[in-house]
Amino acid sequence: QLSSRLVVVSNRLPVVLEGKPGQWSIRPGSGGLVTALSPILRNRGGLWIGWVGTSDTIDIPGIKTVLGPASEASGYRLLPVFLSEEEVRLFYQGFSNEIIWPLFHDLQTRCRFEPDYWRAYGEVNRKFARVVLRHAREEDFLWIHDYHLIPLASMLEDSPKQLRCAFFLHIPFPPADIFLKLPWRKELVGALLRYRFLAFQTERDLRHFLQSLKALFPDSRAHREGDLFRIDADGRTLRAGSFPISIDYRDFDTLAQSRDVRRRTREIREKHGHRKLLLGVDRLDYTKGILERLQAFRRFLELHPEQRGKVTLVQLVVPSRQDVEAYRSLKEEIEKLVSRINGAYTEMGWVPVVYLYQALDRPGLVALYQAAEVALVTSLKDGMNLVAKEFCACHPGRDGVLVLSEFAGAAVQMGREALLVNPYDLEGMAEAIHRAVEMSEDERRRRMGRLRARIRQQDVFWWVDSFLRASSDQVLENFPEA
Ligand code: UDP
Ligand code: G6P
Repeated sequence: QLSSRLVVVSNRLPVVLEGKPGQWSIRPGSGGLVTALSPILRNRGGLWIGWVGTSDTIDIPGIKTVLGPASEASGYRLLPVFLSEEEVRLFYQGFSNEIIWPLFHDLQTRCRFEPDYWRAYGEVNRKFARVVLRHAREEDFLWIHDYHLIPLASMLEDSPKQLRCAFFLHIPFPPADIFLKLPWRKELVGALLRYRFLAFQTERDLRHFLQSLKALFPDSRAHREGDLFRIDADGRTLRAGSFPISIDYRDFDTLAQSRDVRRRTREIREKHGHRKLLLGVDRLDYTKGILERLQAFRRFLELHPEQRGKVTLVQLVVPSRQDVEAYRSLKEEIEKLVSRINGAYTEMGWVPVVYLYQALDRPGLVALYQAAEVALVTSLKDGMNLVAKEFCACHPGRDGVLVLSEFAGAAVQMGREALLVNPYDLEGMAEAIHRAVEMSEDERRRRMGRLRARIRQQDVFWWVDSFLRASSDQVLENFPEA
């Protein structure tokens, strides 16, 4: 008898291919999905099916030669899906990033509801389905991730292979009055009903989904069964629940205490003249509230002139989705605002905002987290936000303060000890920054100690175990424990 394997399918593999035919190289992908899922696959083994991040479809053998060793190094198999330039434009940049991404983050005015995008979305999901059918076995646990692949289960249905799938949505699910603006709303909700098990980051996202379900399928029924919901709709029965994703806490914590990272942390502090460092770490994305944060920091300097020269904001922006127009223009706006603030407040020997546009390696990132005393996570809306959790894991000395948007999923678990802010309220944020830099050591340590204890317990392995335990009755009985 064959044993079941974990088969993860997401738009993106944990590695991105760069270069050209004959000269491929790989770098790690960025974003929360990759950070969270990599340790799970490393720990359990299995298959990860996803796009390689380049639109080259000519040199498939060459690409496979590079991915093979990467698979071996990671301890699980990487199976590539290849997308043409047009598919990348219409499916990834278009439907995924110009429709679902803004809509699900409550920014419907940014959506471009192009019918061509919708058609490509279906076609590319069919392509993913073909790769899945080639590799997955009936006894596998098939776990589909995120908004790019919502229709995947429905595309697998017609095959004689009986594959059972669970789905996890990494981003928020919007309230019904926003979701219902989508021209293909009924198709999308109908496609979600094709999974055996649906999982969201928070209860709020799950409730929002149930609102839209009721509006579009008035005969549907949803009722509570313990921590889950049983849904009967469109001739199907499935279960749904909420599971806040997390990080490999021990990995970050251990790295933060390593000699090399401690040295790098000291160097960063020295470079900044031992001033208080405020830190922002975000993919370049308009949902992250980077402009709002910069404005709040400027207001803080205006309202508290005594803080000038004492506090520096380090803003790390990780390049992302550069071929989407909204992302390019955001980059320009951020850079303009940074130079305006620096133009107004810089003094001899002190620059208020240090702006870095790059991806850091893990030790570099951990050192930066550790060097900072305050993290500013001010998303306008966020599925979870792992930066908030990573910042805490990287403070073994329990001396950091987290300023956190109430609209990030992370606020559910961290809202009591973090300083919660409404990112649309500039003066409120400026005051929270002031409170954070003035907080007594006692209070900082008390709050950070609690945050660390909670994330240590509710880490990414806790997340995957609770997900598998809850979904296995519906998807696959007796899926093996790690
Ligand atoms: N990150 C990264 N490279 C960097 C800086 C950060 O890959 O140079 C990672 C960071 O460690 C975190 C992820 O990007 O795990 C961001 O996840 P989050 O949930 O905060 O937001 P997302 O980008 O998924 O929207
Ligand atoms: C978010 C999404 C992920 C995505 C990541 C990076 O975390 O939930 O699905 O992979 O952003 O975005 P990208 O478009 O580069 O994959």
